[in-house]
Amino acid sequence: MKITYLGHSCFLLETQKAKILFDPFISPNQLANEIRTNSLDDTLISKLSVDQIECDYVLLSHGHEDHVADAEAILKRTGAKLVSNFEIVSWFGSKGISNNHPMNIGGEVTFDFGKVKSVKAIHSSAMPDGSYGGNPGGFVIQADGKTLYYAGDTALTIDMKLIAEDFNLDVALLPVGDNFTMGVKDAIKASNFIGCNHVIGMHFDTFGYIKIDHEAAIKSFSEAGKNLMLMQIGETKEL
Ligand code: NI
Ligand code: MN
Repeated sequence: MKITYLGHSCFLLETQKAKILFDPFISPNQLANEIRTNSLDDTLISKLSVDQIECDYVLLSHGHEDHVADAEAILKRTGAKLVSNFEIVSWFGSKGISNNHPMNIGGEVTFDFGKVKSVKAIHSSAMPDGSYGGNPGGFVIQADGKTLYYAGDTALTIDMKLIAEDFNLDVALLPVGDNFTMGVKDAIKASNFIGCNHVIGMHFDTFGYIKIDHEAAIKSFSEAGKNLMLMQIGETKEL
């Protein structure tokens, strides 16, 4: 499988059977916009263009604007299936999005590409219009013989140890920006709790509150015997 970073906490995961988009926040993301507008690379431009992204599933971790901003447009254009908590799925239902699969924390579902388990996140969740957004969550994805944890927005929580009991993670996507979520120090602890030394950082740099020192973050992880990847916006990696 391969993964493309689309900025903030948005990733496109391509498995053998499906393309899965996480938490689309691209058009309002100034960093992604700068890269798209200054690029001469057509592939990169189309990767970062909301009207060109192709996906089969859209997974939303919680209702905040910086995680759902482009979801409606992408879901309507692609007809992709929305997978999120019941409240978020209902909210998008009122906007005419009917291809969906509602879940809640603790549930696991088998889709055509593999399995998705909804896991706990310690955060908050309201929709952009202030409607109730259910409980925030993360996802454990099993596909193509690999297991990936997408933490969403979360603080460090002891519940993460449960993930290590049930899954042998190959890679974890953890927030590292601090202020609204875990910062680097807690993300290193989280990586111990979940038993995964390969971390892709997310939820950093987008706004002033969450700007981080990349070199220092990578060094802290490496001193703990771990690998932190801070992908470039638009970068694709084989997992
Ligand atoms: Ni949030
Ligand atoms: Mn957020």
